[in-house]
Amino acid sequence: MSDAAFFVRAARESGMAMHTQQQQKQPTQKSVPGGPHIPDRAGVSFKADHREEILDTNPEVGWFEVHPENYMVAGGPRHAMLSAIRERYPLSLHGVALSLAGAEPLDGDHLRALRTLIDRYEPGLVSEHLAWSAHGRHYFADLLPVPLSQEALDHVCRNVDQTQEVLGRQILIENPSNYLMLEGSDIPEPEFLQEVAKRTGCRLLFDVNNVYVSSRNVGYDAEAYVDSVGADLIGEIHLAGHAVDRQGRETLLIDDHGAVVCDPVWNLYERLIGRVGPKPTLVEWDTNIPDWPTLYGEACKADRILGIPTPHAALADA
Ligand SMILES: [Fe+2]
Repeated sequence: MSDAAFFVRAARESGMAMHTQQQQKQPTQKSVPGGPHIPDRAGVSFKADHREEILDTNPEVGWFEVHPENYMVAGGPRHAMLSAIRERYPLSLHGVALSLAGAEPLDGDHLRALRTLIDRYEPGLVSEHLAWSAHGRHYFADLLPVPLSQEALDHVCRNVDQTQEVLGRQILIENPSNYLMLEGSDIPEPEFLQEVAKRTGCRLLFDVNNVYVSSRNVGYDAEAYVDSVGADLIGEIHLAGHAVDRQGRETLLIDDHGAVVCDPVWNLYERLIGRVGPKPTLVEWDTNIPDWPTLYGEACKADRILGIPTPHAALADA
């Protein structure tokens, strides 16, 4: 069976499994404790390539974000490196493997490993994706979509409730990059995510690049999306670059976090900040890792839009 056929079948089975579960009770506003304060300024992905430059120069970056899955070991050099960063900067944990929208029960071992990391590093923010990445004995490196149905909404809310209960704190849920419209999706994505936040007490991680990539790939209105999400529900913003894949007359944007942020995404970000005010904003960079000045320059650009004066304003103006 091809990968595509497998994914379609697994997504259908996810939907079927959700049908068999009990309906969620009526929405209630929950209050869930958060973590230590993360400043309303720019942070960046922490990459080992930049470790020496960061620790030698203590750059004026608001905070760093890492994928917790890279640190789910007891000790060793990775923890020594991350501990050195944490001693100097606030930290955010951005998970990629919880499979919150998957049809199967959440992985208890994974949740407990995440709780251990949270207890160790006391991150200001903990986030995950509206996606699934495991089915049966198969585990995928990709964050895969589900049809946004009422059944999926109830199911995701249950998983977010369980996650926050085990972690003992609030999490944030990120809007995905979309590459196709799934049959059975009958709730608009921003409406779906806001309903999850209202029911569970989680907040939203608003990825502006994902909105732009999705708008180009599946044709929805990026500005309308940016204008539609309640300011109080947004706990963090992501910015990132993407790749452009041209096949004849077809063009697909790939959310690879491997380039500078493009001008249309900066414009959407300015529009969002103008409406909701300053929010912690991460410049994500996961492939084609650049030199430190390039990544730092992107953070300075975000800080400028956030109204943060930096001694490197000239860099941001470049
Ligand atoms: Fe993101």
